[in-house]
Amino acid sequence: MRDLADQPIGVFDSGIGGLSVLQALMAELPHERFVYVADSGHAPYGERGDAFVAERTHAIADYLVAHHHIKALVVACNTATAAAIHEARMRYPQMPLVGVEPALKPAVALSQTGRIGVIGTRGTLSSAKFAKLLDGLKGQAEFVIQPCKGLAHAIERSTGHPAANAAQQSEVHRLCQAYTEAMGPFGKGTGQIDSLVLGCTHYVFATDELRAILGPEIHFLSTGEPVSRQTRRLLETQGLLATTDQPNAARLTQLFTTGALIDLQTAALRWLHLPAQQCSKAEGLR
Ligand code: DGL
Repeated sequence: MRDLADQPIGVFDSGIGGLSVLQALMAELPHERFVYVADSGHAPYGERGDAFVAERTHAIADYLVAHHHIKALVVACNTATAAAIHEARMRYPQMPLVGVEPALKPAVALSQTGRIGVIGTRGTLSSAKFAKLLDGLKGQAEFVIQPCKGLAHAIERSTGHPAANAAQQSEVHRLCQAYTEAMGPFGKGTGQIDSLVLGCTHYVFATDELRAILGPEIHFLSTGEPVSRQTRRLLETQGLLATTDQPNAARLTQLFTTGALIDLQTAALRWLHLPAQQCSKAEGLR
């Protein structure tokens, strides 16, 4: 068995959304190897119950440990973090485990109007974890919370196989338009929303649509970078940063899916410039 520090870092999401986090992780930790699982065969998580999402989280964590001997796990999904990170920590008490949550605190620091929009899945935004996060910021800003049913699914499909793209792309635009309209006016004026928290890792891939709808002056907050820095800190503290200088670590990164291989390949190439050969079906993951 190789030195634990030279084992890969596991990363997963319900689908391709977590690639936005993987992108930040690869930039922050260029000498690390990553194993990514897109659970696209079971996506979207956002409209399922906690029990289903927790069950998937455990199945994927077990698969990453048993088949890939990961040294750390990044749950690159807000919905899975809200539903299952607590239990995952109990299941793997020794393993560094990092989750993602909507970036409310950074938004409070950035907002000038004090009115902040938060978009996410129903699962995330109705969770006890999110309620606690919100409660801790009481009085510091006004939050306009908008669950976006269907948006992660449309993004998932639009970044997949090119044949499905055009129709799904306009569906992404239509949903972004409808949900942001429902939140009230965006802008820099008094009473307007000047910051939008992207509380689902898929939504990072709709940034262009959101920017076109909301204009250049609205702040968008995602979690990829803070999560990557937190992962580095945890690995550092536990002496688990890769010991060998692997300048080609990106080429060793492997991506697996429980859904259609072509969709993962298309998304990996488009967002991370990773070639199709680095993507496979997740054999052995139930
Ligand atoms: N990307 C996921 C998140 O951050 C979930 C999307 C979904 O499957 O509904 O919440």
